[in-house]
Amino acid sequence: MQDIAIIGGTGLASFPGLKIIRKEVVRTPFGTPSGPITFGDYCGKKIIFLPRHGSRHTIPPHMVNYRANIWALHDKHVKNIVAVAAVGGIHNEISPARIVIPDQIIDYTYGREHTYFEKDLSHVKHIDFSNPYNQALREKLIEASDLAGVDAFKGGVYAATQGPRLESAAEINKLERDGCDVVGMTGMPEAALSRELDMAYAHCAMCVNWAAGRSEEEITLESIRECTELGMEKVRKLLAKLMEVI
Ligand code: HPA
Repeated sequence: MQDIAIIGGTGLASFPGLKIIRKEVVRTPFGTPSGPITFGDYCGKKIIFLPRHGSRHTIPPHMVNYRANIWALHDKHVKNIVAVAAVGGIHNEISPARIVIPDQIIDYTYGREHTYFEKDLSHVKHIDFSNPYNQALREKLIEASDLAGVDAFKGGVYAATQGPRLESAAEINKLERDGCDVVGMTGMPEAALSRELDMAYAHCAMCVNWAAGRSEEEITLESIRECTELGMEKVRKLLAKLMEVI
């Protein structure tokens, strides 16, 4: 049973080490997901893989069909979703290439299709989102990071921004005053949609730059690319251990 899915983000459009068993194009009532669902074997465990931005990384954060992606995983009986995501570091201990396993989210996105509870409802459902991440899955990620010798930042608030532009320095100061520690563009509505369909969801976030205004250096695609490569090495180690402990 492939009940664990990994959603790949920036740096994980393809999944080195994943032995592909088959790919399936899944259609959903909400349209098509970012790509075919890949069934594979990773370190001896059967998993499902879906690259959030498409296999050639062509879908920007605000254009991802989150509802189709999460519906497709649910359709394939996924119970646990590990979402790999690139973030900017706001907290002074979250420097580029550090891994973060956040425990809270604030949603600053707008205009995204963010719920399944919209039409033809027999009743209105309000999910409990007090703790947006599944604690048991977070603990497994933390255990895996410890075993892998990856010094992850355990906790923190993820700010989901609209993108695709990065933030202004003043916006980052505001996010910090709000209590945010990292900033990314894809965590919402992904986390909430997973909860609506009763799937456990946790972030394995990877810092790829200091957030705007937190470093003297300009944020360039080149520097993001370099940090993504360093961070991905840690993500791969962590995920390999996760396959042992889950
Ligand atoms: N801001 C928003 N999203 C991001 C960033 C950032 O600085 N880095 C990677 N994803």
